[in-house]
Amino acid sequence: MAYRTKNAHLASLSLDPDSIDPLHRQLFMVLREAILDGRIKPGVRLPSSRILASDLKVSRNTVLTAFDQLTAEGYITSRVGAGSYVSDQLPDDFLERRKKEQQTTSGLPKREIHLSRMAQKLRKQADGDIYRGKNFSPGTPEFDQFPFEDWARLLGRHWRRPKPEFLVGNPIGGSRVLREALADHLGQTRAVRCTPDQVIVLSGSQQAIHLVITAFAEAGDRIWMEEPGYPGIRNSILYAGATPVAVPVDEEGFHLETAKKMAPEARLACISPSHQYPLGHTMSLPRRLDLLKWAREENRFILEDDYDSEYRYTGRPLSSLQGLDTDNRVLYVGTMSKVMFPGLRIGYLVVPPDLVDVFLSLRKDVDGHSPAVAEAALAEFISEGYLAAHIRRMRLLYEQRQETLVSLLQEKASEYLSVTPQESGMHVIAWTKPPLKDRDIETEARKAGLLLRCLSGFYEKPTDKSGLLIGFAGTRAEDMPQLVDKLVYILKNQSGQR
Ligand SMILES: Cc1ncc(COP(=O)(O)O)c(C=O)c1O
Repeated sequence: MAYRTKNAHLASLSLDPDSIDPLHRQLFMVLREAILDGRIKPGVRLPSSRILASDLKVSRNTVLTAFDQLTAEGYITSRVGAGSYVSDQLPDDFLERRKKEQQTTSGLPKREIHLSRMAQKLRKQADGDIYRGKNFSPGTPEFDQFPFEDWARLLGRHWRRPKPEFLVGNPIGGSRVLREALADHLGQTRAVRCTPDQVIVLSGSQQAIHLVITAFAEAGDRIWMEEPGYPGIRNSILYAGATPVAVPVDEEGFHLETAKKMAPEARLACISPSHQYPLGHTMSLPRRLDLLKWAREENRFILEDDYDSEYRYTGRPLSSLQGLDTDNRVLYVGTMSKVMFPGLRIGYLVVPPDLVDVFLSLRKDVDGHSPAVAEAALAEFISEGYLAAHIRRMRLLYEQRQETLVSLLQEKASEYLSVTPQESGMHVIAWTKPPLKDRDIETEARKAGLLLRCLSGFYEKPTDKSGLLIGFAGTRAEDMPQLVDKLVYILKNQSGQR
């Protein structure tokens, strides 16, 4: 039962004796609210602490403590012998504003905010990276089989005896041990050629993309990216005040001649040569060599986004474009998000030796450095072989999951979709058959908990391409039959509606 007062001014005040909030705090809050929304007017005398305590059936101390707090914050004034009064110093416009706020149901009142043009453009796209599950989500790895015991042991080891620089002063480019471990790892697995000094540890590859574009793009510049392509690249270009030039890719990947026709002056090409995102093509060797030649001869640069090439199912993982570059023209971007988990927020950038200082300065002004203990644990996770072992196990698992998914789709959904296995990566592209439209399917699928993505959403320009990015890496094979049934149900409904 709530305690209520009979006092006319305070008729609506009530306290809840069962609440975990102490009574004096509750009383302070209800009185403050009543003053702010004008139910108790400035200048009004509050009942004495004794009367209020008796009305509310609480101790006098409770009331006195609440009154003390209200006095300290300026809501009431107390005159010895004369009682407590609501302050008449509260500005009218403050009280008015409060009244208006109370009238809106959406939390904050509507107001005009003069945002920059860039913020206005980006605002529309934010859908947040809230965890909604893994089913068919492209790019989401398997978490359940991650060796968390080993990871926790490595973290624990460093937290128990933290070096001073773990607590303050981690180097901007990342701890030395991690830069060494990454340089070694990338050399062995991706034929990246670099010294540890060229490796800059960052909070994810999105930050790396951001810094590279910031370093090369002036406001108004035109920057090449792929069509379809990774929205994070597009957004970083917009963020820099530059314009993305979306260059259509084909089976051989990014096409220099097309790009030159579209914007010959571009000083930076942002591409994903090992595994084009999202279509999955591998850039052919002649195209790679052409692009490197262009960069060398024209004094231009290339951002290589190598986000998931560890997962290759046929033959050996391909070498990076950076490894082919003899003129230090490539800025190589990688991430731990796919081989470990995105919440780690560790990625890296490998830059030409004469750009190391530039990137260290740029990074310093963004967020200083990444969390030091996670870096130290990661260095050991790599150098003691845990990462390589985990990637090997996941490669086998993902290969099986892809097989299961593709055969289920071919068996149950061939009327609506055409799909073939991918040589690498964590998702397949299932092309929709007319009259199906990928955007409508994505909307319906989301409602059913299927987190696949529509391909047309990755195009900058309007497109008649229609397909689905269906992730298999993080989806258990035993769940797939039921999930594919759900998808087929949606496809059937969608095709019936047209
Ligand atoms: C193609 C591509 N590049 C970069 C990223 C960014 O990854 P992160 O910032 O988590 O390292 C992603 C994430 O999904 C991606 O798909």
